[in-house]
Amino acid sequence: MKVLVTGNAGFIGFHVARRLIERGDEVVGFDCINDYYDPALKQARLAELDALAKRQGARYGFVQADLADHAAVDKVFAQHGFDHVIHLAAQAGIRHSLEAPRDYVTANLVGFTNILEACRHNSVAHLTYASTSSVYGANAHLPYSEHDGADHPLQLYAATKRANELMAHSYSHLFGLPTTGLRFFTVYGPWGRPDMALFTFTRKILAGEPIEVFNNGDHTRDFTYIDDIVEGVIRTSDRPATPDPEWNAEAPDPASSSAPFRIFNIGNSQPVRLGDYIDALEQALGRKAIREMKPLQPGDILDTCADTTELTRATGYAPATPMREGVRKFAQWYTSFYGDSR
Ligand SMILES: NC(=O)c1ccc[n+]([C@@H]2O[C@H](COP(=O)([O-])OP(=O)(O)OC[C@H]3O[C@@H](n4cnc5c(N)ncnc54)[C@H](O)[C@@H]3O)[C@@H](O)[C@H]2O)c1
Repeated sequence: MKVLVTGNAGFIGFHVARRLIERGDEVVGFDCINDYYDPALKQARLAELDALAKRQGARYGFVQADLADHAAVDKVFAQHGFDHVIHLAAQAGIRHSLEAPRDYVTANLVGFTNILEACRHNSVAHLTYASTSSVYGANAHLPYSEHDGADHPLQLYAATKRANELMAHSYSHLFGLPTTGLRFFTVYGPWGRPDMALFTFTRKILAGEPIEVFNNGDHTRDFTYIDDIVEGVIRTSDRPATPDPEWNAEAPDPASSSAPFRIFNIGNSQPVRLGDYIDALEQALGRKAIREMKPLQPGDILDTCADTTELTRATGYAPATPMREGVRKFAQWYTSFYGDSR
């Protein structure tokens, strides 16, 4: 299997590429290594992939280019003839989308169009791409189900991800391109993203600096461990979307279609209070946090929880890593990577 993994210098893409190389797939990575966060961490992930591929004698290549550069995207597809594409490159981050909305249009809308076009013209057998739990937005019906509406996004980030799902549907319908969108729920773990809470909390706790705890730590998140996400990504990618023969145009189910199109939640389905997440981190680091209590931030969602019935039905799998175990593994990685005084 020859697989393109976009965003493989990023948190999730790195882990997915690593697993695919380990199981013997031929992997090509694609990433522009932007400076949304420390590019040195991205380079360190790429070095890990290089070393793994060397050890295994695996066929692995990497292209540094921008998704918005359609000539660069077309060239990679024409050179390689991919069986599957796992598209994880994007401008991520909710808060940043309030400050730099254009970054999201370029990477997530223009970039996604270029991926769709390249898949269409190169007969890719399956496009699997990252969406987000944030698409549920103002929908407060928990657990979030793919069968419910997701048409009230609360930030531009979420709106671009929801747009990706709709754009994918049009390509599945018009060109028969099998597409699967994956709504990830707050992913954490080793090699994580420095802009996310666990990472910033760890850095500040180790430096003896106060951490900002919004909403008194009372909101809940369906924190999902990275290995569970990787398992879900690979299992869904291995099963190209097919048309749903039961799909009824008079009562249209948003999660499937008469076209080869699917949407799945991938979340732990066990929401955890932010305050308890911090307790687990304090225990894993053996240090107490200085907590500065703050009100809820504009655009923040109170609670998230995934219904993963459909993921389990399609792949026989559901995320299950307990939060405390995942946080312990993150803390171990962090202190071995950065040392325990940073
Ligand atoms: N981490 C989470 O909790 C989470 C939750 C929901 C959805 N997601 C989605 O999962 C995917 C992976 O997220 P992540 O946490 O690994 O983020 P990440 O920022 O670590 O990785 C994204 C990678 O994409 C690359 N990239 C960005 N714009 C690009 C462009 N225009 N051209 C080429 N490369 C570009 C970046 O350099 C980065 O290495 C994203 O689509 C994100 O929106 C992540």
